[in-house]
Amino acid sequence: SQTEPIKVMISGAPASGKGTQCEMIVQKFGLVHISTGDLLRAELSAGTEIGNKAKEYMNSGRLVPDEIVTAMVTARLSQQDAKEKGWLLDGYPRSFAQAQSLEKLKMRPDIYIVLDVPDEILIDRCVGRRLDPGTGKIYHIKNFPPETDEIKAKVITRPDDTEEKVKSRLQIYKQNAEAILSTYSDIMNKIDGNRTKEVIFKDIDALLSQVQREKEKTTKLG
Ligand code: AP5
Repeated sequence: SQTEPIKVMISGAPASGKGTQCEMIVQKFGLVHISTGDLLRAELSAGTEIGNKAKEYMNSGRLVPDEIVTAMVTARLSQQDAKEKGWLLDGYPRSFAQAQSLEKLKMRPDIYIVLDVPDEILIDRCVGRRLDPGTGKIYHIKNFPPETDEIKAKVITRPDDTEEKVKSRLQIYKQNAEAILSTYSDIMNKIDGNRTKEVIFKDIDALLSQVQREKEKTTKLG
């Protein structure tokens, strides 16, 4: 029988580098990246019903109601590509209720990664962040400036990336972090996210490769 693909959850405060690491993880492991922030921003710009409901919450840095986000995520996780290639869930669960919804559906990751970054660095990362609206690629005005003048001219700033909104997003994250962790403490791996993105990826790569090897072993034995 074929080895089951790996299932990964990545968590961490706003701007801890989840999206940046996910780009690198997808490139190496070919998992289906499911980012609730990206999915919601796509609904918003397409002007869908979900997008219209989510807009005021997102732009003010508050959490979108659980039932909206949970329906969106479970639908995406159930699609064929996620079952075949494995998944990388980014930005969900963000509340205890969300974690319990996944548990009820028996959607459990093999590993739960938490990126750990000090508060003062998070604020600078958010305020300096820029996005290429075409490719979705993540930049930072100082740390990772756009490669060309053409990209530089078209990058955008997220409306929730002001200092004030980042502080309230961070507070909401902290209020929920512990309760979510209690669901995944047995598979939790905390990673120092205050290093270069390549060094951070090395650690994540080692962890995921280990998970993959263990799955292959169990398949052979079974
Ligand atoms: P979401 O898009 O998930 O935002 P977030 O969790 O606040 O995370 P970010 O996207 O801000 O940061 P990131 O960790 O991906 O960092 P990045 O790699 O970009 O959610 C947005 C909103 O949607 C929420 O506020 C909420 O309203 C709603 N929402 C989403 N999910 C929800 C849910 N489950 N329930 C309810 N509501 C939900 O990096 C940040 C910056 O730092 C970049 O500029 C990058 O270039 C730079 N950087 C990255 N790594 C490094 C490094 N190692 N060194 C230096 N700079 C770095």
